[in-house]
Amino acid sequence: MNPRIIVHGGAGRHEIDQPQDILETAADSGYAAMEEGTAVDAVETAVNVLEDHPAFNAGNGAKYQLDGNPRPEAAIMTGNGDAGAVTDLDGICHAISVARAIMEQTHHVMLSGPFATRFADHCGFDRQDLSSEKAATEWEKMHAMVEDLSFDETIETLKEYDTGGTVGCVAIDADGSLAAGTSTGGRSPQLAGRMGDTPMIGCGTYCNEHAAVSATGIGEAIITMTLARRCVEYREDGMQPAVATENAIKALEEKTDRHAGVIMLDDNGETGISHNADEMNTVVRE
Ligand code: GLY
Repeated sequence: MNPRIIVHGGAGRHEIDQPQDILETAADSGYAAMEEGTAVDAVETAVNVLEDHPAFNAGNGAKYQLDGNPRPEAAIMTGNGDAGAVTDLDGICHAISVARAIMEQTHHVMLSGPFATRFADHCGFDRQDLSSEKAATEWEKMHAMVEDLSFDETIETLKEYDTGGTVGCVAIDADGSLAAGTSTGGRSPQLAGRMGDTPMIGCGTYCNEHAAVSATGIGEAIITMTLARRCVEYREDGMQPAVATENAIKALEEKTDRHAGVIMLDDNGETGISHNADEMNTVVRE
C-alpha cells in the first residue's frame, strides 16, 4: 500500500485567507511522521502544525465564543474503531493530541470542560494564551453588534451569520491502516458553551476499516446529517470516495441549505474531496 495523506484548512463561504505553505508543511510533516510511524501519527502531526498557526480556526487561531473565550475541541479515530474526542478545552493548543491521549489512555471516548482541561494538565500539555488578532477582530465585530441586546435578541441576531471552519486530516499508512482527525475553535458567531460537529464521532470525524473522513463547515448541519458517517456508509454501499463525498455534500445542501466540505480516504487509498463552499483548501501527499 502506498501511504497517502490529505489535509484541509476549513471551508468557507468567502475567500479564505490562509497560508498555503503551512497546509503543505502540515501534509509534509504528517507524511514524514507516517514513514516512521502509523496513520494516526500522521494525522496528529499534520493537525498539530495547523493548530500552531493563528491563520487557521483551531488551537492558536481558534475562534472565540460570545463571552470572548476560545474553547478548542477535536476528535481522532482509527480504522480499528478506537476514538478519542474532547470539547470545551481551556488554553490548550493541541486539542487533537488531547483527543488522542483520551483514546489511548482512558476507557472513554470524550471528555469535556474543566475536567478535560485537568486531564490535559495531568498529561503534561502546556496551558497557553490562545488569543489571536484574527479571532479577536472577528469577535469584537460580533460583540459590538449584540452588546446592547437582550439574550433573546442576541440569539435571533446571531442566527443571521454563517461561518464555520476547522482543520483536519485523513491518512492511510503502508500497512493499510486508516485514521482521521479534526480540530477546531467552532463557528462564528457562537454562544458560550456551544459544541460543534468536530468532536462528535460520525459527524465531523469518522473512521472504520473501510474509510476515514474529516469534515468542515457549518457544524449544526454536519451534526444533523451525521456527515462523516454518511460518507463512509456510501463507500460501504459500493460508491468510490469521490462519488460518496459528492453525494453526501449534495444531500447536506438539499436538506439544510448550509455549506460543508469533506476529505476522505478509503482502504484502497482512493480519495474523495468535495465541498459546496466558495473555497476549501486541501493538500494531498503520496
Ligand atoms: N465545523 C466546525 C463547527 O461548526 O464547529
